[in-house]
Amino acid sequence: MNTLSLFEDEKRSISYTFEKGSVFERLHFLADESIDLTITSPPYNVGKAYEKKTDLNKYLEPYKDFAIILFKKTSETGHLCWEVGNYVEDSEVFPLDTFYYHIFKEAGFKLRNRIIWHFEHGLHATKRLSGRYETILWFSKSDDYVFNLDNIRVPAKYPGKRSWKGKDKGKPSGNPLGKNPSDFWRVTCEDWEKEIWEIPNVKSNHPEKTMHPCQFPIELVQRCVLALTNEGDLVLDPFMGVGSAAIASTMHNRKFIGFDTNDHYIKIAEKRMLDFKKGVLKIRPLGKPIHQPTGKEKVSQIPEEWRGLLCK
Ligand SMILES: C[S@@+](CC[C@H](N)C(=O)[O-])C[C@H]1O[C@@H](n2cnc3c(N)ncnc32)[C@H](O)[C@@H]1O
Repeated sequence: MNTLSLFEDEKRSISYTFEKGSVFERLHFLADESIDLTITSPPYNVGKAYEKKTDLNKYLEPYKDFAIILFKKTSETGHLCWEVGNYVEDSEVFPLDTFYYHIFKEAGFKLRNRIIWHFEHGLHATKRLSGRYETILWFSKSDDYVFNLDNIRVPAKYPGKRSWKGKDKGKPSGNPLGKNPSDFWRVTCEDWEKEIWEIPNVKSNHPEKTMHPCQFPIELVQRCVLALTNEGDLVLDPFMGVGSAAIASTMHNRKFIGFDTNDHYIKIAEKRMLDFKKGVLKIRPLGKPIHQPTGKEKVSQIPEEWRGLLCK
């Protein structure tokens, strides 16, 4: 294979490979049952810098073979997390996960959750409601899959609750490590207060922002990696962009392999990995609260000109 960058540091269990080229041509080179987690966000066919918009069916066609090969490459206890939004044509919305669900199901994957990733910011629509979420389809290959719920628990709202009947009557009814974080991940605002996962999408004022138009927040990948893999496992991002999944994986001592057709993105990914190893990469810490306006900032106050205009 044309291995663009390969790094191994056995002392720190850091091992990653970045491959330049189309994953549709290269996936079959990987060993069968070698991938423990695939986490990715493919092109959405919306005309971003790295894709050419085409007919929806034509766009989806190569993913059918891709899904079959990916199933073969996934370990028996392994997973797929497929993050997508909408394809829009003539103002009509086509939720991509509804198409991908069938493609991966037919290849043999079993859906475990359809996670809503909600974020606060984005374009304001004028002819429909502004889109503020995307979805992650989490599939496993078999019924015997890795799931480390304790790694991702969040604090319970009422940890002091007690059972009121049965053999555990009077005992605390929750889990001391916190509760299941649910399938609704919102933009971060103190997980430990609000008991939901809130992950900001990567916009210009985010510390992780590069020139890539649709970067993953590292936090989002971290949660999947922590829950769905063990140390030493292999994570794949077939459309790795600037390597957010590589960083999240190596942070938690997982091996990583990623593909991208764009040299420039891979170079940025390499630079981010070097910065990460040096400890100088800016990363939004897992669970860090998002800035909440106090109401005193000028931008959070009602403009002078609007005073007296009442909401209908
Ligand atoms: C939505 S972006 C993924 C961004 C990534 N999650 C990140 O955090 O940077 C999709 C990526 O897929 C890449 N890509 C497009 N077609 C590809 C193909 N056939 N094989 C591999 N990568 C491809 C694009 O260059 C782009 O970087």
